[in-house]
Amino acid sequence: MKNYPNVVIFEHPLIRHKIAHLRDEKTSTKEFRELIEEITTLMTYEVLREGVPTAVKTVKTPLETCEQTVVADNAIAIVPILRAGLGMVSGIHTLFPAARVGHIGMYRDEETLEPKEYYCKLPDGIEDKLVLLVDPMLATGGSACDAIALLKKRGCKNIKFMAIIGAPEGVSKVAETYPDVNVYVSTLDRQLNENGYILPGLGDAGDRLFGTK
Ligand code: PRP
Ligand code: URA
Repeated sequence: MKNYPNVVIFEHPLIRHKIAHLRDEKTSTKEFRELIEEITTLMTYEVLREGVPTAVKTVKTPLETCEQTVVADNAIAIVPILRAGLGMVSGIHTLFPAARVGHIGMYRDEETLEPKEYYCKLPDGIEDKLVLLVDPMLATGGSACDAIALLKKRGCKNIKFMAIIGAPEGVSKVAETYPDVNVYVSTLDRQLNENGYILPGLGDAGDRLFGTK
């Protein structure tokens, strides 16, 4: 895959360790949910290194008063792509409990692999926030691109997309379609199979998260 200036692939040893457990078909629904949450928190630490709206606050220490940079109030919105993106929300809330949450419902048509939107509810004022769009799986990139298009239509200008596992096809599609969107992927897998599943991947993230199969 090409190098894209708007893409960060983590390949961090600690995250890789957790992803190994996540992939394992023997991992229970409970453990799967916990791992998605932990990996998301680890990712968020790096994702927020740049582009976070900040404010200056005056703090009085026991010795003197100083000016400190803090994350601005109400600056971050989390937008999971349903269903599997829901599993990532708590991992960000651990760090920013007050972050507002919007929801975009999409499922892939099993034949065409085209995403179908079935739900959208976004917080008021989202256009002025840093939007963390989350979905553990970035396969063809269709769902992520449609979700980004929807956010842009609502006026969002500061969008970061976070996925845990990416396929080269999907990463390239999002990076090239939206060069102004930062894309963060924990690990880059080999390829898609003929049914649009990521290899080696972890199977269907929604089913594993919610125990539906
Ligand atoms: C999965 C996943 C992404 C999408 C990725 O959702 O959570 O949203 O597929 O595939 P793409 O990059 O090819 O669009 P799915 O459509 O299976 O819906 P679900 O979460 O409701 O199971
Ligand atoms: N969606 C998933 O849940 N898994 C894949 O491998 C591809 C799309």
